[in-house]
Amino acid sequence: MPRNRVVLGLQWGDEGKGKVIDLLACEADLVVRCQGGANAGHTVVVGGKKTVLHLLPSGVLNENARCVIGHGVVLDPVALCHELDDLLAGGSDVAKRLVVADRAHLVLPSHPHLDRAQEAAKGASKVGTTLRGIGPCYTDKAARIGIRAGELCDLKACEAKVREHIAKSNVIAKALGAEPLDVETAMAAWLPSARRIAPLVTDSISILHEAMGAGRSFLFEGAQGAQLDLDVGNYPYVTSSNTGIGGILTGSGLSHKQLGQVIGVVKAYSTRVGSGPFATELNDARGEALRQRGREFGSTTGRPRRCGWLDLVIVGYACRLNGIDAIALTKLDILDGERELPMCVGYRLDGKVLDGPPARIEDLARVEPVYETLPGWTTPSTGARTFEALPKQAQDYVRFIEKRIGVPVKWIGTGAGRDEIIVR
Ligand code: IMP
Repeated sequence: MPRNRVVLGLQWGDEGKGKVIDLLACEADLVVRCQGGANAGHTVVVGGKKTVLHLLPSGVLNENARCVIGHGVVLDPVALCHELDDLLAGGSDVAKRLVVADRAHLVLPSHPHLDRAQEAAKGASKVGTTLRGIGPCYTDKAARIGIRAGELCDLKACEAKVREHIAKSNVIAKALGAEPLDVETAMAAWLPSARRIAPLVTDSISILHEAMGAGRSFLFEGAQGAQLDLDVGNYPYVTSSNTGIGGILTGSGLSHKQLGQVIGVVKAYSTRVGSGPFATELNDARGEALRQRGREFGSTTGRPRRCGWLDLVIVGYACRLNGIDAIALTKLDILDGERELPMCVGYRLDGKVLDGPPARIEDLARVEPVYETLPGWTTPSTGARTFEALPKQAQDYVRFIEKRIGVPVKWIGTGAGRDEIIVR
């Protein structure tokens, strides 16, 4: 059993990482988020109450685990307080075991405001962001004008900086055609949460290194997915952080030697929210059927997700780039009843077949998927607890993926329930 594990999404996010994390978190002493922010969304049930986690690691459900929000995360104090309150209402006082990195950048009231203004100004070419201020916050970080959580130790000075930030951002918002943000209203909503988070902020790097030295076990949780990576995803239709193994390293402060097993989560078909090319998208009744059966509606924004066949070009690419040791295949049961199952094994572009996505978004939008079609299955896979209990065609579907990608499928999700998962 590996002591440390990393869980990464290998498609466009929403692969069902939460379920895999839920299974693995019970073996972890620390659960760590390293990148992204409140754009992520994972629905959990605590004390019979449904809560959507955005910022907290999903492994928070393990009551014995220490939760760490690493410095690569962009932290929205208001969103974090909502989550803490929701979990508290379900009987779980997470704040007692939560560490917030002092180097994490704060999402300020001006960031979601600018996110909305930028998206509106882009019109038809908008990214389709979650409007959580993620891009503007990372922009400020790279421009070296951001404010970090460590600043909260001097709340008065921090407040002055936030006010100044809002005033400057209002100039940009105005240039983009948006109304300015009212500073007093914004501060009244932001400050109480910032004040509440301040005592949780600390030197997370020292804590992580000490725990590693003491032999504690770690679960690192990636957010979003490989195709949304800022560098190797479908730029510009991406998020503003590195969603792969690089983001885990730079966002935690640990070394590559300490990360352990790298698990890639792959949904048995494809989904995407927001704009951008999607080679295997089904704009027909079959896509709609997948959406309904798979309940494919965003947990952060409620938007219907675009659905399509499994794309092994992008999965293989993500495995190569991230050194994936094992795949967790989720939602296999959603394919129950499909007559046949095309899987994309290549992209045809200008007469050539590519085994990875081209860099230019215009080229990616032109690729033609090359399909291999496998027979579907009529008997349900739902609830199967062993590989052998799956319909033969479902076993063949899994084996095809393993053979094509060269990575073993170690977990298979066969239902929504916590224990509806095959461990091989
Ligand atoms: P942002 O991260 O809010 O800036 O959004 C950029 C793109 O990433 C948009 O297409 C979003 O729909 C997508 N995105 C961001 N977070 C997630 C997620 O957790 N799941 C799926 N898509 C996401």
